[in-house]
Amino acid sequence: MLERYEATARLREINGKQNKSYAVLTFGCQQNEHDSEIISGVLEECGFLPSDINDADVIIFNTCAVRETAEEKVIGKIGALKALKYKKKDLVIGIGGCMTAIEKTADYIFKTFPFVSFVFGTNSVSSLPSLVLNAVLGKRQNGAPDDEIIPEDLPAIRREGYRADISVMYGCNNFCSYCIVPYTRGREKSREPEAIISEAKRAIAGGAMEIMLLGQNVNSYGKGLSSPVTFAKLLDRIASLDGDFRIRFMTSHPKDATDELLEVMAKHEKICKHLHLPVQCGSDRVLLDMNRRYDVKKYLSIINKARALMPDITLSSDIIVGFPTETEEDFEGTLSLCREVEYDSLFTFIYSRRSGTRAAEMVPVSTEKEIHGRFDRLVSLQNEISRRKNEALVGKSLRVLVTGISETDSEMLAARSEGNRIVHFKGSPLQKGSFVNVKITSAKTWSLFGEQEI
Ligand code: SAH
Ligand code: SF4
Ligand code: F3S
Repeated sequence: MLERYEATARLREINGKQNKSYAVLTFGCQQNEHDSEIISGVLEECGFLPSDINDADVIIFNTCAVRETAEEKVIGKIGALKALKYKKKDLVIGIGGCMTAIEKTADYIFKTFPFVSFVFGTNSVSSLPSLVLNAVLGKRQNGAPDDEIIPEDLPAIRREGYRADISVMYGCNNFCSYCIVPYTRGREKSREPEAIISEAKRAIAGGAMEIMLLGQNVNSYGKGLSSPVTFAKLLDRIASLDGDFRIRFMTSHPKDATDELLEVMAKHEKICKHLHLPVQCGSDRVLLDMNRRYDVKKYLSIINKARALMPDITLSSDIIVGFPTETEEDFEGTLSLCREVEYDSLFTFIYSRRSGTRAAEMVPVSTEKEIHGRFDRLVSLQNEISRRKNEALVGKSLRVLVTGISETDSEMLAARSEGNRIVHFKGSPLQKGSFVNVKITSAKTWSLFGEQEI
């Protein structure tokens, strides 16, 4: 493989004479969305210009493997690229991300789709110039070496100037028994705090109003560093930077949600009072089978502490319905936990068997019909709670960050509250990326409506 700089320089030379372009299609989580910003940065450094997928000379898919439905979607879309390749013989197609980080899946994609130029994993984005160059020169490639240390000099093209996603750590060591992520992203690796803080400073100076700190398990940040530091300390330092911005972070694992973290959240106005704390299930027996390393009592104690320190905190969670060992009684435990916590919002998933994980070997005790019935019951309980909580905000004033024109009504702006609620109100598109105070006038299950306060 050619060094990144050498391959970048050769591609720039080739592209200098022609207007070549690229498109990146992203599946999966925010971590992948951010990785795609880096993929875009690396390709632009090579002289490619952004374009629509139908016109692009280089197409990169950044894939997700978390559930079977996610994988099926990607496979379908790769198949559909054949028509584009037929029209444009020198089209370069690269498939990266979590699916191709699994060797078996990478091999399958490489063999099944001969029009795919190369596949690469989640930790080899710095090899992209070399992979693209080889493809331009007509050579297919199945995989690239993983970066041993985190490359700190990869450029990123931020999708939205007003917000900056910053990865603080990569990978996951938790091996929850149902989850593929530790296999697709490798072991936990934290970035040095100085690198993160200077990236945050640059983003704020460049106009970012919202900083999102990312990691599969952000609050286990810092453990493997030569001078270990807690996520709470990192958060404290970023929240102490000058400027009018706010901070979010994702995802927190309950086993690492310390008092120190909650105290730092409570102390700083700049830190959004929103905690996404996935519980996954409300039964101690299933939590043990899931290898989550906390029980319901411990989880509720974190929630209670968070509410004691921040009475208005917004809480959200992820829940898996139909884990192989989940019985009706276990599921009732989940319902009762949700009734007790009263989350503001919930991401609900039906368990999906991931080959290679420990849960894949477990024998399911419930039928698909039973699991779908449970899923529907959980969703309707949550809808009722979300609606009630949103209605309680009518008459209140919220400080929101304008994200753009509403997708459902082009006459309205869309914005996000500190608790990440969607708020619609009438205003000017020029307000995108600014903070506005909005008085809430009506509420739905998933969103709020209001009027700008002068
Ligand atoms: N690191 C984060 C997010 C991981 S993936 C965390 O620990 O919270 C996001 C969510 O997908 C998980 O929280 C879980 O609810 C869900 N998920 C992961 N694997 C799954 C599987 N095999 N089937 C169904 N949902 C799954
Ligand atoms: Fe998956 Fe668990 Fe790691 Fe989250 S903490 S990424 S659910 S293994
Ligand atoms: Fe999917 Fe990988 Fe994220 S599996 S959820 S894109 S870490």
